[in-house]
Amino acid sequence: MSRQSITSSATRRKFLKFVTFGAATSIISGKLWRREVLAYCEPIPGQPEGVFKIRLSDYPALLQSWGSVRIGLNPVTGGDPFPDGDFYPILINRDDAGKFYVLDCECRHQSCVVPPFNLADGGVHCQCHGSLYWVDGSVLNGPAASPLGAYQFEFDGNNTLTIHIPCWAFQMSATVLPGGANSRIRIDFYGNTNVTYEISFRQQVGDAWARASFATTPSGPVNQTTLLGSGVDVSVYVNRATANGYYAVGMKLARV
Ligand code: FES
Repeated sequence: MSRQSITSSATRRKFLKFVTFGAATSIISGKLWRREVLAYCEPIPGQPEGVFKIRLSDYPALLQSWGSVRIGLNPVTGGDPFPDGDFYPILINRDDAGKFYVLDCECRHQSCVVPPFNLADGGVHCQCHGSLYWVDGSVLNGPAASPLGAYQFEFDGNNTLTIHIPCWAFQMSATVLPGGANSRIRIDFYGNTNVTYEISFRQQVGDAWARASFATTPSGPVNQTTLLGSGVDVSVYVNRATANGYYAVGMKLARV
């Protein structure tokens, strides 16, 4: 790959500053209440951030020294070293003392996606021009001149990492369709390319979220549980089963 093609792809992706993660809306006593959660890659004071939890036991590599896992919202499987969508993956590394590091996979040289940490390679070795980063994201060898971005997180000392991503907030809106007490609710949001979305429901704040089925047309069958985004606005339709309840739109994280 030529340097030019890498640079132009990287520039294109750098325009994607407005990205999303999780939001909720609710029906209280049959009336719609909605909360829009919105954030940008440049954190705005007072704006919520995307927060998600990782169970270490779901990723055996993270239970051992020098373990490393790359997770993301969209795949990284295309012919070029960039995400197949709007989001760079997150890299979770563990050192030999059991300390974790949560890093951004965007190489600080020309924005290729870096692979997981590999001790045999000497660290996180960017395939594009050879930059090498240590387990904590610091630069061992250039051309990258600055460390990988790091995310704030908490480890509960047992099995859970709670990770904060300032630029993964989510904007959605919800509308009760006309038609009486049992009319459907339409939920609108932007479907990022190659991101899988799910709708969740819970009746009260303390309840666990349960996956909700939805339709993709106002009167179509409510039989879908996932929706693959394609870079356009989407609407889904849920039935109202109870007078009170909360709906959330979630983006699915996967190992990439
Ligand atoms: S993009 Fe050049 S070394 Fe990573």
